[in-house]
Amino acid sequence: MQAIIDNNGVKRYLVTIQVNGDNYTRVVKANTLLVNFLREELDLTGTKKGCELGDCGSCTVLMDGKPVNSCIVLAVEADGREITTVEGLAQSEKLDKIQESFIENAAVQCGYCTPGMIMSAKALLTKNPHPTEEEIREAIAGNLCRCTGYVNIVKAILAAAGE
Ligand code: FES
Ligand code: FES
Repeated sequence: MQAIIDNNGVKRYLVTIQVNGDNYTRVVKANTLLVNFLREELDLTGTKKGCELGDCGSCTVLMDGKPVNSCIVLAVEADGREITTVEGLAQSEKLDKIQESFIENAAVQCGYCTPGMIMSAKALLTKNPHPTEEEIREAIAGNLCRCTGYVNIVKAILAAAGE
Protein backbone atom coordinates (compact mmCIF):
# COMPACT_ATOMS: atom_id res chain seq x y z
CA MET A 1 0.00 0.00 0.00
CA GLN A 2 1.40 3.35 -1.03
CA ALA A 3 2.11 5.83 1.79
CA ILE A 4 1.88 9.55 1.08
CA ILE A 5 3.19 12.30 3.36
CA ASP A 6 0.97 15.38 3.15
CA ASN A 7 2.11 19.02 3.51
CA ASN A 8 1.72 18.84 7.30
CA GLY A 9 3.92 15.79 7.53
CA VAL A 10 0.95 13.46 8.18
CA LYS A 11 1.25 10.03 6.64
CA ARG A 12 -1.71 8.90 4.56
CA TYR A 13 -2.33 5.85 2.44
CA LEU A 14 -3.64 5.24 -1.02
CA VAL A 15 -6.21 2.46 -0.84
CA THR A 16 -8.41 0.80 -3.42
CA ILE A 17 -11.48 -0.88 -2.00
CA GLN A 18 -14.12 -2.67 -4.02
CA VAL A 19 -17.52 -1.65 -2.69
CA ASN A 20 -20.70 -3.17 -4.10
CA GLY A 21 -18.82 -4.18 -7.24
CA ASP A 22 -17.07 -0.87 -7.99
CA ASN A 23 -13.46 0.01 -7.16
CA TYR A 24 -12.85 3.20 -5.20
CA THR A 25 -9.35 4.62 -4.79
CA ARG A 26 -8.94 7.19 -2.04
CA VAL A 27 -6.26 8.68 0.19
CA VAL A 28 -7.04 7.85 3.84
CA LYS A 29 -5.48 8.41 7.23
CA ALA A 30 -4.06 5.39 9.03
CA ASN A 31 -6.88 5.59 11.59
CA THR A 32 -9.81 6.06 9.19
CA LEU A 33 -12.47 3.53 10.10
CA LEU A 34 -14.13 1.53 7.36
CA VAL A 35 -17.58 2.71 8.54
CA ASN A 36 -16.49 6.34 8.14
CA PHE A 37 -14.89 5.60 4.77
CA LEU A 38 -18.21 4.16 3.54
CA ARG A 39 -20.43 6.86 5.01
CA GLU A 40 -18.28 9.95 4.52
CA GLU A 41 -16.10 9.21 1.48
CA LEU A 42 -18.62 7.19 -0.53
CA ASP A 43 -21.88 8.60 0.89
CA LEU A 44 -23.14 5.07 1.57
CA THR A 45 -25.09 5.93 4.69
CA GLY A 46 -27.09 2.70 4.82
CA THR A 47 -24.40 1.35 7.14
CA LYS A 48 -25.26 2.71 10.58
CA LYS A 49 -23.02 3.72 13.48
CA GLY A 50 -24.19 2.72 16.94
CA CYS A 51 -21.75 1.88 19.69
CA GLU A 52 -18.60 2.31 17.56
CA LEU A 53 -17.03 -0.32 19.80
CA GLY A 54 -17.82 -3.52 17.95
CA ASP A 55 -20.70 -4.42 20.28
CA CYS A 56 -23.99 -3.57 18.55
CA GLY A 57 -23.59 -4.82 14.96
CA SER A 58 -25.41 -1.87 13.38
CA CYS A 59 -22.34 -1.21 11.21
CA THR A 60 -22.11 -4.78 9.85
CA VAL A 61 -20.94 -5.10 6.25
CA LEU A 62 -19.51 -8.05 4.37
CA MET A 63 -15.76 -8.16 3.77
CA ASP A 64 -14.92 -10.84 1.20
CA GLY A 65 -18.34 -12.29 2.01
CA LYS A 66 -17.90 -12.45 5.78
CA PRO A 67 -19.74 -10.17 8.20
CA VAL A 68 -17.51 -7.66 10.00
CA ASN A 69 -18.21 -4.71 12.27
CA SER A 70 -17.01 -1.85 10.09
CA CYS A 71 -16.45 0.35 13.17
CA ILE A 72 -13.51 -1.80 14.21
CA VAL A 73 -12.00 -2.34 10.76
CA LEU A 74 -9.63 0.27 9.35
CA ALA A 75 -9.99 1.45 5.77
CA VAL A 76 -6.35 0.46 5.22
CA GLU A 77 -7.24 -3.09 6.29
CA ALA A 78 -9.91 -3.17 3.59
CA ASP A 79 -7.41 -2.26 0.87
CA GLY A 80 -7.81 -4.76 -1.98
CA ARG A 81 -10.83 -6.41 -0.35
CA GLU A 82 -14.43 -6.71 -1.48
CA ILE A 83 -17.00 -4.95 0.66
CA THR A 84 -20.75 -5.33 0.37
CA THR A 85 -23.05 -2.89 2.11
CA VAL A 86 -26.83 -2.94 2.33
CA GLU A 87 -26.92 -0.66 -0.74
CA GLY A 88 -25.31 -3.47 -2.72
CA LEU A 89 -28.04 -6.05 -2.11
CA ALA A 90 -30.90 -4.80 -4.25
CA GLN A 91 -30.73 -5.40 -8.02
CA SER A 92 -31.78 -2.00 -9.39
CA GLU A 93 -35.44 -1.67 -8.30
CA LYS A 94 -35.71 -5.23 -6.98
CA LEU A 95 -34.96 -5.73 -3.30
CA ASP A 96 -33.05 -8.77 -2.09
CA LYS A 97 -35.34 -11.54 -0.80
CA ILE A 98 -34.12 -10.87 2.76
CA GLN A 99 -35.06 -7.20 2.47
CA GLU A 100 -38.50 -8.17 1.12
CA SER A 101 -38.92 -10.67 3.91
CA PHE A 102 -38.10 -8.10 6.62
CA ILE A 103 -40.86 -5.89 5.21
CA GLU A 104 -43.39 -8.71 4.81
CA ASN A 105 -42.78 -10.04 8.32
CA ALA A 106 -42.84 -6.63 10.02
CA ALA A 107 -39.28 -7.17 11.25
CA VAL A 108 -38.48 -3.44 11.18
CA GLN A 109 -39.49 -0.85 13.76
CA CYS A 110 -37.14 2.12 13.99
CA GLY A 111 -34.94 0.42 11.39
CA TYR A 112 -31.62 1.42 12.91
CA CYS A 113 -30.40 -2.15 13.40
CA THR A 114 -31.91 -3.38 10.13
CA PRO A 115 -29.05 -2.90 7.64
CA GLY A 116 -26.60 -4.69 9.94
CA MET A 117 -29.14 -7.39 10.73
CA ILE A 118 -29.77 -7.95 7.02
CA MET A 119 -26.06 -8.18 6.24
CA SER A 120 -25.57 -10.83 8.94
CA ALA A 121 -28.59 -12.71 7.59
CA LYS A 122 -27.28 -12.45 4.04
CA ALA A 123 -23.92 -13.94 5.05
CA LEU A 124 -25.69 -16.77 6.88
CA LEU A 125 -28.01 -17.68 4.00
CA THR A 126 -25.17 -17.59 1.48
CA LYS A 127 -23.20 -20.11 3.49
CA ASN A 128 -26.17 -22.04 4.88
CA PRO A 129 -29.32 -21.65 2.73
CA HIS A 130 -31.52 -23.63 5.13
CA PRO A 131 -30.55 -22.63 8.66
CA THR A 132 -32.41 -23.71 11.76
CA GLU A 133 -33.90 -21.11 14.07
CA GLU A 134 -31.01 -21.72 16.44
CA GLU A 135 -28.45 -21.11 13.69
CA ILE A 136 -30.24 -17.87 12.77
CA ARG A 137 -30.21 -16.67 16.37
CA GLU A 138 -26.52 -17.51 16.56
CA ALA A 139 -25.77 -15.64 13.31
CA ILE A 140 -27.48 -12.45 14.54
CA ALA A 141 -26.22 -12.72 18.12
CA GLY A 142 -23.88 -9.77 17.49
CA ASN A 143 -26.69 -7.56 16.15
CA LEU A 144 -28.57 -5.74 18.87
CA CYS A 145 -32.11 -4.53 18.33
CA ARG A 146 -33.62 -2.15 20.87
CA CYS A 147 -37.12 -2.20 19.39
CA THR A 148 -38.16 -5.74 18.59
CA GLY A 149 -38.13 -8.98 20.53
CA TYR A 150 -36.23 -10.62 17.63
CA VAL A 151 -39.26 -12.87 16.95
CA ASN A 152 -40.20 -11.22 13.66
CA ILE A 153 -36.57 -10.81 12.66
CA VAL A 154 -35.99 -14.55 13.05
CA LYS A 155 -39.27 -15.22 11.25
CA ALA A 156 -38.19 -12.98 8.36
CA ILE A 157 -34.86 -14.75 7.97
CA LEU A 158 -36.53 -18.17 8.17
CA ALA A 159 -39.04 -17.12 5.51
CA ALA A 160 -36.27 -15.80 3.23
CA ALA A 161 -34.44 -19.09 3.68
CA GLY A 162 -37.53 -21.02 2.61
CA GLU A 163 -37.78 -19.25 -0.75
S1 FES B 1 -21.29 0.60 15.60
FE1 FES B 1 -20.04 -1.03 15.03
S2 FES B 1 -20.59 -2.63 16.37
FE2 FES B 1 -21.72 -0.94 17.09
S1 FES C 1 -35.76 -1.97 14.77
FE1 FES C 1 -35.08 -0.40 16.09
S2 FES C 1 -33.20 -1.11 16.85
FE2 FES C 1 -33.98 -2.77 15.73
